[in-house]
Amino acid sequence: RFSKALKSIARNQELKAYIQNSKELFPILMKGANRFVAGETRREGIERVIKLYNKGYQVSLEFIGENTTSEEECMDAKNEFIELIKDLGHKQMKATVSFDLSHIGMMISDSVAFTNLEELAKVAHQHNIQLMISMEESQKTDTILSLYKRIAKSFSNVGITLQVHLERSSMDLNDLLKAPGRIRLVKGAYQEPEGIYIPRSEELNKRYIEFVSMCVERNQPLSIATHDENLLTELKAKGLLYRPNVEVEMLDGVRPDLLRSLKEDGIQAKVYVTYGSEWYLYVVHRIAEYPPNIYTFLSDVIGQ
Ligand code: FDA
Repeated sequence: RFSKALKSIARNQELKAYIQNSKELFPILMKGANRFVAGETRREGIERVIKLYNKGYQVSLEFIGENTTSEEECMDAKNEFIELIKDLGHKQMKATVSFDLSHIGMMISDSVAFTNLEELAKVAHQHNIQLMISMEESQKTDTILSLYKRIAKSFSNVGITLQVHLERSSMDLNDLLKAPGRIRLVKGAYQEPEGIYIPRSEELNKRYIEFVSMCVERNQPLSIATHDENLLTELKAKGLLYRPNVEVEMLDGVRPDLLRSLKEDGIQAKVYVTYGSEWYLYVVHRIAEYPPNIYTFLSDVIGQ
């Protein structure tokens, strides 16, 4: 309930305008957000990415946004992603760009989303950049998967995120293994209706390990996107992390200690960096999924 309440507060448009226009509040909150978000601009996003890259991490970068309903804002978002891909490409960085399809047109129509996705895929291919499509709430799963499958026919540099907690995902995984693109396995961040998902549990972790094994057996490019130390310890003990096609990916600022130790162990480690003016929505998501983060956020605000 705490998580739902926080997310609906964050989506409140009046609050959004108030925070963005408040000269006093904005910099204070931004200080707390800085652990999780690189900043408001592409330049800040890229600066954070370069620092991580120079320390030996792989990187994903997202311009934050979702559920965009105006055609103009979708075009702006698509253009921002194009510039991001070009900037990363010019720096010769083999980076990944991540995004929600609902940020680039899926709320308007499938064809707007596909046209924008295709343009991103072409530019990304020219610049040796990988794209990763995020997975959104379950009402959107069919549409996202069908857009992915269409693009995967022409572009192997586009990958897809799969939520292990959804019951349907074992069928979806079998299907996705037919395409060459990278699969990013996540437990799932959205509150779903009872009966269609497996809550956080041993059972879910067992399923996560099964999904990883299936991908590894097929030599599928795979991102293991979790901060769950016990799960990672089990995967490591089974030898599933030391593979050329496998990387462990974590959100920036969430468990940097754990990711560093995996990297030092020779495992490919990737950091998911975000930027954009919608940063407060992203930060609220991180607090909602792990409430103790509120203390980290507040101590950063106070400057301890
Ligand atoms: P889980 O929630 O089981 O928690 C296990 C332990 O990990 C916790 O006890 C805590 O110690 C630690 N932990 C987890 N989250 C933490 C946090 N925020 N701060 C501090 N510690 C934390 N989801 C989705 O639905 N669609 C998507 O496209 C994506 N994309 C995505 C990309 C990447 C790179 C990552 C890492 C995650 C996502 N997610 C996502 C989010 C994902 O579904 C999930 O909600 C979070 O990763 C939390 O689940 P975990 O598997 O990390 O651990």
